[in-house]
Order: sequence, then C-alpha cells, then structure tokens
Amino acid sequence: MRKGQVNVFILLLFFTLSSASDQRWRKAMISTYNGSSSSSMMMNRVGSSILFPIHGNVYPAGYYNVTINIGHPPKPYFLDLDTGSDLTWLQCNAPCVHCIEAPHPLYQPTNDLVACKDQLCSALHPPGDYKCESPDQCDYEVEYADGGSSLGVLVRDTFSLNYTNGIRLSPRLALGCGYDQIPGTSNHPLDGILGLGRGKSSIVSQLQRQGLVRNVVGHCLSGIGGGFLFFGDGLYDSSHVTWTPMSQEFTKYYSPGSAELHFGGKATGIKNLIVIFDSGSSYTYLNSQAYQALTELLKKELSGRSLKEAPEDQTLPLCWKGRKPFRSVHDAKKYFKTVLSLAFTNSGRRKAPFELHPEAYLIISNKGNACLGILNGTQVGLQNLNVVGDISMQDRMVIYDNEKQVIGWSPANCDHLPMFRSYI
Ligand SMILES: *[C@@H]1O[C@H](CO)[C@@H](O)[C@H](O)[C@H]1NC(C)=O
Ligand SMILES: *[C@@H]1O[C@H](CO)[C@@H](O)[C@H](O)[C@H]1NC(C)=O
Ligand SMILES: *[C@@H]1O[C@H](CO)[C@@H](O)[C@H](O)[C@H]1NC(C)=O
Ligand SMILES: *[C@@H]1O[C@H](CO)[C@@H](O)[C@H](O)[C@H]1NC(C)=O
Repeated sequence: MRKGQVNVFILLLFFTLSSASDQRWRKAMISTYNGSSSSSMMMNRVGSSILFPIHGNVYPAGYYNVTINIGHPPKPYFLDLDTGSDLTWLQCNAPCVHCIEAPHPLYQPTNDLVACKDQLCSALHPPGDYKCESPDQCDYEVEYADGGSSLGVLVRDTFSLNYTNGIRLSPRLALGCGYDQIPGTSNHPLDGILGLGRGKSSIVSQLQRQGLVRNVVGHCLSGIGGGFLFFGDGLYDSSHVTWTPMSQEFTKYYSPGSAELHFGGKATGIKNLIVIFDSGSSYTYLNSQAYQALTELLKKELSGRSLKEAPEDQTLPLCWKGRKPFRSVHDAKKYFKTVLSLAFTNSGRRKAPFELHPEAYLIISNKGNACLGILNGTQVGLQNLNVVGDISMQDRMVIYDNEKQVIGWSPANCDHLPMFRSYI
C-alpha cells in the first residue's frame, strides 16, 4: 500500500463499556455543576474551554498534530489527533521493547499505575474478557485500522493545561505508556496519539469526571494547514451549529447514523451508508459500492471537459491532469463543480446534510494534478464503514458533544484561533 494513502486510525479491537451507567453519571455531573452555582470558580470552570493550536495538513503531511505538556516538570509531546479512538498514549521508556522514531525523547513513566479494577481499565477491554493477572496494573493494547498498534500499561501523570480565561490547571490523568509499537502503513513521526473518542478513557471524559470541563471536543482544520482543537463548550455559538444526534447503534465511534449519498443535489440511491467522523483519517472512505457509484458519476460529469485521467500520478488512485498544472483546488473548480453531500436520516426523518464541496474531496498533487481524496474503504479493510476524514472536515468546526450526545458542524475560519473573553 502506498504511503500516505491509508491513514485511518480507528480503534478496532476494544470497545467501550455500554453507556447505561455512563448516562446516569453524566446527568449527575451536570447537576453538580448546577448545584455549585454559588461557587463562581466552579461556574467559571464550566464556562471555560481548553484550546490548542493544531499543526499539519491533509496533503502532503497526512496528519494533524497537537502539542501536549505532560509530566513534572512538564515536557512537550507531539500527538496525532484521533477522534476515532479513546486512549491517549506516548512512546514510553518502560523500557521500550519496540518504539518508532519520534521527535522527542521517550516518555519516562511515573510509578503511579492505574489498577486493573479501575473503571478506566475496564473501559479499554471488552466486558468479561480481561482477567486481572496483575491486579495492580492495567495492561492495554490498541490496534488501528492501518495495521499499527501500541501495547503498554496505564499510568497517571500531570497534564499542564490552560483555560481560555488564563487559569492554569494541572490535573492528573491516565495515559498509556506504550512500550511496544508496530507502525501502521500511515506511520507518522510523532510521540503518540491523542485519543478523543466517545469512551471513558479519553482525556476529555477524564477531565469531565474531575469537574474541569464539559465533555465536548471540537476541531477546526484549516484548508491551508493548521487550525485548532478545543475541549469544552465555550468557543462556539450553539445556535449557529447544525446538530444531529449521535447514533445509539454504533456507539464505538462518532457517528451521525446512516446517510444517503447525493451528487450535485440529486439522490444517488446509494443509501444506508454507516458514516463515522474520524480526525485520525486524512482522507474520506466510502464502501466499494458507493465508491464505484461515485467514481462513475464523476467520470461521466468530467467527460467532454478538457481533463485527462493521469494514471501515472501515483499520489492517489484517481488523478486528473488539466491543460496546465493546477496550483490549487480553486483552479480545478473550473472543471469540478459538483457538490456531494451525505444526507443523514434519523428513524426515517431527514436530517441536515453534510456537504462536500470540491475542497472537501480533492487535493492537488505535487505534479499539479487534481486527485480524488475519497477512497475505496473496502480495499483497506473498513468493510461497510464509511469514514469522513480530515479532507472533508476542513474549514469548518466539527463538534462532538458527548453530554448531549450530538455531533455538530458549522462554517468557520480555522486560520486563526477563535476569539474568547480572557480573564472573565
Ligand atoms: C441547570 O440549570 C439551568 C438554569 O437554571 C436549567 O435550565 C438546566 O436544565 C439545569 N440543568 C440540569 C442538568 O439540571
Ligand atoms: C507538531 O506541531 C509543532 C507545533 O506545535 C511543530 O513545531 C512540529 O513541527 C509538529 N511536528 C510534526 C512532526 O509535524
Ligand atoms: C499556559 O499559560 C502559561 C502562562 O501564560 C504559559 O507559560 C504556558 O506555556 C501555557 N501552557 C500551555 C500548555 O499552553
Ligand atoms: C474496492 O475494493 C474492493 C476490495 O479490494 C474491490 O473488490 C473493488 O473492486 C474496489 N472497487 C472499486 C470500484 O475499485
């Protein structure tokens, strides 16, 4: 498989605990917030968010990274942003059996081990499938859809974070000390992975349980590279966001449920596509049937225009050459006019469509060709899962509200950090 093509980070092996007890617990947290409204400190905290600049791009880098400071004294680590998995882990000197080259020295773990019976540990293992052979430690193994994996042990350490109002916080959070990694096909030169999925072990879920932030994750990936990530609900106006409920059927991932593919405003008849949103994937993937229908429609649409397929360009499976090399997707929009969309339905009722303009499905290769950034998911082992990757989430805010169990999106300028009131 060519490098940079398969870029899907999805936790395959382990799933999170069912959310029945979770739900009760979340309600309890919210009423705690309300109950302590006399404490202005608490109210400020609830209103506050944590903001991180993001570096990276869809092409040519193929990943987005966030710097997180961990340890005492804090040391920086570059982490791959992944809403498709829960656990945050660092390459770790425990000592390391097999580590991949990383930008920073290996993380030195604390000896503050998470116990095997801890709920964070059970959240990383299928119920009933994990025998606590060493009760005082929690072993984990995560596998990603690109074939990569990390094996290690959970430890607690101090994270150095700042609220947008300037207040610093240093919570102790559980993270994976990964001492045995296998690189996947889309291996990136980073120190570890920042898991932002729906499960209890995610950093944001842990911060919520400590009453520090609402369990909301959002990102804004800029089309020119970079962008920002945030935890909490203080950085957007909810009334300008298109919200749709998270699927209660596919609870492992951030999924708005199933969708029908529309092409240029018309239904294609390709329905019941199970769609997940995954920032750990650079490109978007459709199952074989949908992929085939899409490429046929596109080829038909483009026939008669002075564009030629460019099979010699190996950047992605399907590239087109113009009369002159394209410098940007904007150039290519002379030919590519079609807006695709994923029309989600909710128990039969139509919900808001997720639109894909050419910027959300094309890249310009280093040869100046326009290449389709929607790939055949069946080919990379995703079976029927359809993945909305970074390419299709650029230049808008995508928000995962785990408390209200909704996913939202809204147009946004991701080139600048959002404005917020500092020092409230
Ligand atoms: C919290 O308080 C607000 C305002 O008093 C109310 O609208 C909201 O429903 C309360 N939330 C919970 C979870 O009790
Ligand atoms: C990750 O982001 C930092 C800035 O936060 C940047 O300096 C660094 O080059 C990036 N690392 C990689 C490997 O892209
Ligand atoms: C938090 O703010 C302090 C003081 O403004 C700054 O020195 C520090 O680098 C910030 N930390 C992070 C993780 O952004
Ligand atoms: C997608 O991949 C599958 C599995 O490799 C293959 O059988 C199928 O022909 C591919 N579809 C298209 C349209 O290329």
